[in-house]
Amino acid sequence: MDYFKYKDNQLFCENVPVAQIAQQIGTPVYIYSTATFQSHYKKLVEAFAELEPLICYSVKGCSNINICRLLAELGSGFDIVSGGELYRVLQAGGQADKVVYAGVGKTDEEIRQAIEAGIACFNIESESELENLILLASQSDRRVQAALRVNPDVDPKTHRYTTTGKKESKFGVNLERALKVFEEFGHDDHIKLNGIHLHIGSPVNTVEPYIQAIKKALVFIDELRDKGFTIETLNVGGGFGADYTTGEAPIAADYAAAIIPLLRDKGLRLILEPGRSISGNAGILVTKVLYMKQGGDKTFAIVDGAMNDLIRPALYEAFHFIWPVQVADGFAVENRSNTIEIPGTQKMDVVGPVCETSDFLAQDRLLPPLQRGDLLSIFTAGAYGFAMSSQYNSRPRAAEILVEGDSFRVIRRRECYEDLISIEK
Ligand code: LLP
Repeated sequence: MDYFKYKDNQLFCENVPVAQIAQQIGTPVYIYSTATFQSHYKKLVEAFAELEPLICYSVKGCSNINICRLLAELGSGFDIVSGGELYRVLQAGGQADKVVYAGVGKTDEEIRQAIEAGIACFNIESESELENLILLASQSDRRVQAALRVNPDVDPKTHRYTTTGKKESKFGVNLERALKVFEEFGHDDHIKLNGIHLHIGSPVNTVEPYIQAIKKALVFIDELRDKGFTIETLNVGGGFGADYTTGEAPIAADYAAAIIPLLRDKGLRLILEPGRSISGNAGILVTKVLYMKQGGDKTFAIVDGAMNDLIRPALYEAFHFIWPVQVADGFAVENRSNTIEIPGTQKMDVVGPVCETSDFLAQDRLLPPLQRGDLLSIFTAGAYGFAMSSQYNSRPRAAEILVEGDSFRVIRRRECYEDLISIEK
């Protein structure tokens, strides 16, 4: 699952004690494990090897340039959704011809930059975007590759805010309209519309929604081929789960076992856009207890990390396993579960200093007795953690640390007060 483990009552990231990093760098701090990124990426490569897919790491979940570089070195492509992400990927040494670009609102400027860079594929989300791409492609001397993102109307059984493949969502084009798009634009001189893209939601913790969505896409691809259109790629998007609790998500081999048989001998190049399944368990957020407090029947652990550092609990009521970095005898855990059964634990809310009631990291959570100064690890924070952080309440953003074996380095320094105002006029 990952390389965050307790040894002698202390949490380690690979071979480095997490407490040592917190002491040197301060808190709150994001800590990532190189070996976890590598092993998650390699497991996907191995699981899907039969189809030799193009794996495009989804940058949005964890976008630090050093993480992009690490993935580029492993041979990964990249799934991007903005000019900023393209910039990061290119600066990190990523190959443009392994970049796929989704998003419902690409600006002219962003499209021009991506054409200029020579990306592998634009994932088109509407007729009007496609017309615009054709116009911009005609002004360049490149023939641009594109895939149509179709909306298969499949329920991924995840949070409604991250459900993207149902017909009422803003993403992709309904299957009924998708044929018309090909009829109108499928033989254009400036763009080569030769792929179908899907992304049904995130996280998708069962394989069935993928099976349903891919089957629908394959029926559509057959229809397109019968009508004389050339379809070369099928991009099934991202959404593979991560272990917020131990064993919660299917492993790469489970997704592969469901998907590969559907695509064998179909003459389609498979593209995958995994984000969370690579980065989620590769990062933790470490925070320090500032105060303990009683409020009515409740106990609050007030910590120095907050919703501006990790917004997932506030935004999606997401569960993140939390446990002290250093524990007393009997309190080291191997299993990250939402039903802890360790004698001596106590129910509490873990909350931050931000002035919002939604500023919680955990509610009614059983934790060992805590006191001022204790360090807590918030697990599975590598995806959509730092990447969604903000300076709300004028809180400088946390530092990001990358551990590799016995050593660690700062890959993003902690912001300081000057950073808060330096670009304000
Ligand atoms: N491809 C596309 C087109 C996407 O929109 C996304 C994520 C991915 C791939 C990667 O999905 P992943 O493998 O990471 O699940 N902020 C939310 C998640 C939003 C996902 C947005 N799109 C969260 O914290 O759960």
